[in-house]
Amino acid sequence: ADGSLADTLGRPLRDLRISVTDRCNFRCSYCMPKQVFDKHYEFLPHADLLSFEEITRVARAFVAQGVEKIRITGGEPLLRRHLERLIAQLAELRTPDGRLLDLTLTTNGSLLARKAQALKDAGLQRITVSLDGLDDAIFQRMNDVGFPVADVLAGIEAARAVGLGPIKVNMVVKRGTNDHEVLPMARHFKGTGVTLRFIEFMDVGETNDWRMDEVLPSRELLQRLQAEFDLQPLSASAPGETAERWGHADGSGEIGLISSVTQAFCGDCNRARLSTEGRLYTCLFATQGWDLRHLLRGSAVSDAALQDAIAAVWSQRGDRYSQLRASGQALPQGERRVEMHYIGG
Ligand code: GTP
Ligand code: 5AD
Ligand code: SF4
Ligand code: SF4
Repeated sequence: ADGSLADTLGRPLRDLRISVTDRCNFRCSYCMPKQVFDKHYEFLPHADLLSFEEITRVARAFVAQGVEKIRITGGEPLLRRHLERLIAQLAELRTPDGRLLDLTLTTNGSLLARKAQALKDAGLQRITVSLDGLDDAIFQRMNDVGFPVADVLAGIEAARAVGLGPIKVNMVVKRGTNDHEVLPMARHFKGTGVTLRFIEFMDVGETNDWRMDEVLPSRELLQRLQAEFDLQPLSASAPGETAERWGHADGSGEIGLISSVTQAFCGDCNRARLSTEGRLYTCLFATQGWDLRHLLRGSAVSDAALQDAIAAVWSQRGDRYSQLRASGQALPQGERRVEMHYIGG
C-alpha cells in the first residue's frame, strides 16, 4: 500500500473507471455514430473481456495503490450479464485504512428500471444516468435508436425508489441539436434531489465528427441558466472533480458544469481507466493503453507484481490532453485516439 504514488505532474491516483463492455444499445452521435457502429462493426469477442474475477483482482491492486473511487462504465454497463455479481465483489474491497470505496456506475438508464434493485442489493452506492433532453424527438435524435425519454425517467425513478443515491444526470450538450433542452432539463430536475450536469461535447476518439461550433461553452450555458435561476458557486466536493458546482440560492439543489473543452481540468486529474479487455489508460484521449491482462492470464504474476506494474505506469504518466488542446499545442499525430464506447468516458 502506497498512498504517496504520484505521476510526473504530482497527481495522485484516486479514481478507477472500469469499462465492462464495449457494446451499447444506443447510438449517440457523439459516441457511437451509426455510420461507424453498424451491423458490420466487430465488437470485442467474449474471450477478450476481463472476467469479473480478473476485474476484481486488478481493482484490488489499484485500491492498494491509492484508489478510493470506482466507477463502472461501458459502452452500456448494464448490458454485461450478471453485472450485480461484479458489483458485489467490488463492494467487498476496502482501502488500506479500512474504508468502503465510493462505488458507482454510469448508465444510459435504458435497463435501469429492471436492474436498480439488484444493483442496490449488491452494494452499489450511487448512480449517474445520461439523458440528453426531455423532448422525445430531440432525445431520439441524440440516441439515434428511437429510445423514449419516459423509459429513462422511469429508470431514474426506480434508482431513487430503491435508495441508490445521490443520483446524478449527465446531459451532453450539442449546440444546434439539444441546447434548447438545457432550460427544460434544469427546470425538470430542480428540487428533485437529482444533480443535473451539463457536459461540453468533447473530441473523444476519431469517429464522432467533432466540431468546435457544436460545443456550447459552459460560460454561455451558465448565462442562459442565470437568466432564469439564482445560482451560487459551490466549492468542489472532492479534489480533481470533473464538474464545477452551482447551487440554487433557494436551496432546491445544484447543477454541475463539465467543461473539458473550454476549461480543462487536467491539473488535478487523478483518474485511471481500465478498458474492457484489461488495458490501463492514463487519459481519456490516450492513443495507447498498457496491457494488464497478460499479467493475469498465462504466466500469471503475484499481487505485488501487479501493483508494481500499476505504480510503474502511473509514475510515468504525464497526460494533460485537454490542457494542451486548449493552449493550441501539437497533439499526437498519426496514432488513433481511443474510442469513448471502449474506454467508458
Ligand atoms: P462524479 O464522481 O459523480 O463526479 O462523476 P464523474 O464526472 O467523474 O464521471 P461521469 O461518468 O459522470 O462523467 C461525466 C463526464 O465527464 C463524461 O462526459 C466523462 O467523459 C467526462 N470525464 C470524466 N472524467 C474525465 C476526465 O478525466 N477527462 C475528461 N476530459 N473528461 C472526463
Ligand atoms: N463528449 C462529452 N461527453 C460524452 N459522453 C460520451 N461521449 C461524449 C462526448 N463525445 C458522455 C456520456 C456519459 C458519459 C460517461 O460520457 O453521455 O454521460
Ligand atoms: Fe451508449 Fe453512452 Fe455511448 Fe450513448 S454515450 S452510445 S449511451 S455508451
Ligand atoms: Fe485527465 Fe486526460 Fe481528461 Fe486531462 S484530458 S482531465 S489528463 S483524462
